[in-house]
Amino acid sequence: MKFFIDTANLDEIREAEALGVLDGVTTNPSLMAKEGIKGKDNVFKHYKAICDIVHGDVSAEVISTDFAGMVREGEELVMIDPKIVVKVPMIKDGVKAIRYFTDHGIKTNCTLVFSAGQAILAAKAGATYVSPFLGRIDDVGGDGLALIEQIVHIYRTHGYATEVLAASIRHVPHLIKCAELGADVATCPLSVIMGLLKHPLTDSGLEKFLADAKKM
Ligand code: E4P
Repeated sequence: MKFFIDTANLDEIREAEALGVLDGVTTNPSLMAKEGIKGKDNVFKHYKAICDIVHGDVSAEVISTDFAGMVREGEELVMIDPKIVVKVPMIKDGVKAIRYFTDHGIKTNCTLVFSAGQAILAAKAGATYVSPFLGRIDDVGGDGLALIEQIVHIYRTHGYATEVLAASIRHVPHLIKCAELGADVATCPLSVIMGLLKHPLTDSGLEKFLADAKKM
């Protein structure tokens, strides 16, 4: 399973990249706004700065909701860097835009996916990635992991090439379960990636080894 980091914070991206386990980055307008990035030039410069840090795919989201606007934006975004993947919302014109980008050799990430039906449409349109938001489904009392399982099953059954990118991951058990269920990619905050490191027996075991090392 590939690890993407879900942030627009350059320090966090550098830290994850330095760990040597990062396969890419996902951003969205909320994450960009959180970093105080304003204006098209600055937004584009920030995407370029992210691309210069990582070696994998970097999702950059369109903010138009009509077909022509999404195509125009996506074609500008991919000029920033070859690592850019155009992130497109799961709406009617979004599906059309994904088909357009697919036919023109542009990678896409279909975002804001909350049902198996939406995931099937994304795959049929040729999306490179589909992003089911499992945490947000849990937030409203649903079962986000069940949706990941269902989409993985459907895609494997029908041989869809679209990769299942489990998004909106809130904690370490979410991430581990996504790996068990066969998600192709998981995108999560740095805290969740670093959370994988933690086990109290590792800490106490190391403490004892270091204490005993002094007696060697
Ligand atoms: C990723 O592509 C999504 O934008 C992200 O995972 C959403 O996460 P959130 O529900 O924590 O905002």
